[in-house]
Amino acid sequence: MSQNLLEIRNLAVHFPIKEGLFKKTTNYVKAVNDLSLTVRKGETLGIVGESGCGKSTLARAILGLNKPTSGDILFEGESILDYNPKQMHQLRRDIQMVFQDPFTSLNPRMPIGEIIAAPLKAYKTTVNVEQRVKELMELVGLKPEYYHRLPHEFSGGQRQRVGIARAIALEPKLIVCDEPVSALDVSVQAQVINLLEDLQKELNLTYVFIAHDLSVIKHIADKVAVMYLGKVMETAERDSFYQSARHPYTNALLSAIPLPDPEKEKKRERIVLQGDLPSPANPPTGCVFHTRCPKAQPICKEKLPRLEQMEEEHFVSCFFPIEEEQKRALNT
Ligand SMILES: Nc1ncnc2c1ncn2[C@@H]1O[C@H](COP(=O)(O)OP(=O)(O)OP(=O)(O)O)[C@@H](O)[C@H]1O
Ligand SMILES: [Mg+2]
Repeated sequence: MSQNLLEIRNLAVHFPIKEGLFKKTTNYVKAVNDLSLTVRKGETLGIVGESGCGKSTLARAILGLNKPTSGDILFEGESILDYNPKQMHQLRRDIQMVFQDPFTSLNPRMPIGEIIAAPLKAYKTTVNVEQRVKELMELVGLKPEYYHRLPHEFSGGQRQRVGIARAIALEPKLIVCDEPVSALDVSVQAQVINLLEDLQKELNLTYVFIAHDLSVIKHIADKVAVMYLGKVMETAERDSFYQSARHPYTNALLSAIPLPDPEKEKKRERIVLQGDLPSPANPPTGCVFHTRCPKAQPICKEKLPRLEQMEEEHFVSCFFPIEEEQKRALNT
């Protein structure tokens, strides 16, 4: 078994809610709440969940930008929470991020060549910055002659290529992609995902790939984790995940992906979840999903299910995981 590059252990990131004249802390937004995950070197972990379930908070914690309330984050086997400023400086080089909106994450007044050059200059890694930037531009499919153009002269997909070139400039070990294709047209989404896949092979990269939608990460992820209110509901290797998901929440998310075959699509049962996502400031008792779960029983309201192992690499946090036979019935 290959080595874990990243290990997240029982991580919690809670933001205080301050109210009144004296800004007293009255409650906490439990954005990430007792979450554990591992990512092996060279693999892609896809993380999926509804808006507000804590995906970006988790991403920022991995980058050392959000201070955890409790738990631990290990990078190459060492806790990053104990890092001194010098180690933090190195970590910022080893872990890079690609953002959702390539327009707001790129300085509109800076030529794209300069944007890509910024990390190289900050870390003084190369003598010939311009030549290295042009190499990077070619690597991500941008013409080097565009060096002096401004971000607004590019399409969304091209701008995301600039963001990717900037992220790979320092040859990082891990890239956290926070919804990198959500703002792009479907046809462009595939091109950007293909580029990320090619770069992964070429540069031996490891990805944490965050998405709203399970169809986006189906091809790129080696492992998938589903988040709900700051917790992992289910995590598994890609094939096991898409073929035999066990959590009722995962099944609801999977049932929302359109099937390519219209005949199957007609017969397929859509699971529509009732109610809204509860507030992460006041999550439900017991299983946090019980208020919307079609299979909830009294125990789900009272007790918190643990992430239990179903098969190798397949973990589910549910008292009543869906059985194999039922699963097959749902698919036909
Ligand atoms: N700095 C902060 N201070 C207070 N609350 C915050 C802060 N950052 C995030 N939150 C809250 O934490 C919760 C999780 O937010 P987060 O941005 O991590 O969700 P997300 O899963 O990335 O959502 P989206 O899919 O919309 O990007 C939300 O309720 C959000 O309002
Ligand atoms: Mg987000």
